[in-house]
Amino acid sequence: CYDKRFVGKKVLVTAGPTYEALDPVRFIGNHSSGKMGFALAEAVAALGGDVVLITGPTNQKVKHKQIQVIPVVSANDMLESVQKNWSQMDMGIFAAAVADYRPAHSETQKIKKTQDQLEIILEKNPDILSWASANKTDQKVVGFALETQNGIEYAQNKLEKKQLDAIVLNEIGEPGVGFGTDTNSVKLIFKNNKLRSFELQSKEQLAFSLLNELMTNLYE
Ligand code: C5P
Repeated sequence: CYDKRFVGKKVLVTAGPTYEALDPVRFIGNHSSGKMGFALAEAVAALGGDVVLITGPTNQKVKHKQIQVIPVVSANDMLESVQKNWSQMDMGIFAAAVADYRPAHSETQKIKKTQDQLEIILEKNPDILSWASANKTDQKVVGFALETQNGIEYAQNKLEKKQLDAIVLNEIGEPGVGFGTDTNSVKLIFKNNKLRSFELQSKEQLAFSLLNELMTNLYE
């Protein structure tokens, strides 16, 4: 019976995009809707687990009362919240689309339209998933990879480089798959190279399928 497979488990989920400020009114962001991360958080809670959901700016709402939501804006904010919570967790599912770069300087006043060309210097954001992996005690660590080509190869590289237990591969380009859609089709790859493909289904259904597969392979 898969009814309450997460009872007693504390799971941290990251979701959504991050916004990196250019000035008080502008930011660099991406098209992540947060739907997959929120669906995973709801599914963990429905399966009896305790969830800390650390989310960048999205329009999603949580339904389950057992989900503790921590809203953040930037990658640095997200890292800080992950760092505060990580030691108490049993598992981390890192579904957020964290911005790779942020403006090196965020202006305190609105940037004025005086120049014909404007150069913005970007600097690298911290890798939250790699931090969590490097600072784990017993936690299982699950990453996401969104790729447009050579998906399996890139995902396996990430799995190894970031020392993950498993990685969920989103290969965008097919209809109904990826950012903003209500459906998704993914592959789940484990560190022993075991691979499971999930056909196109709603993100809600997919969340349950992924969690059951994770439980079976990481704990049993
Ligand atoms: O950006 P990349 O393709 O390496 O992202 C793969 C995984 O790493 C995702 O799970 C994403 O949430 C996580 N990540 C992160 N912090 C970053 C970049 C990515 O946690 N700065």
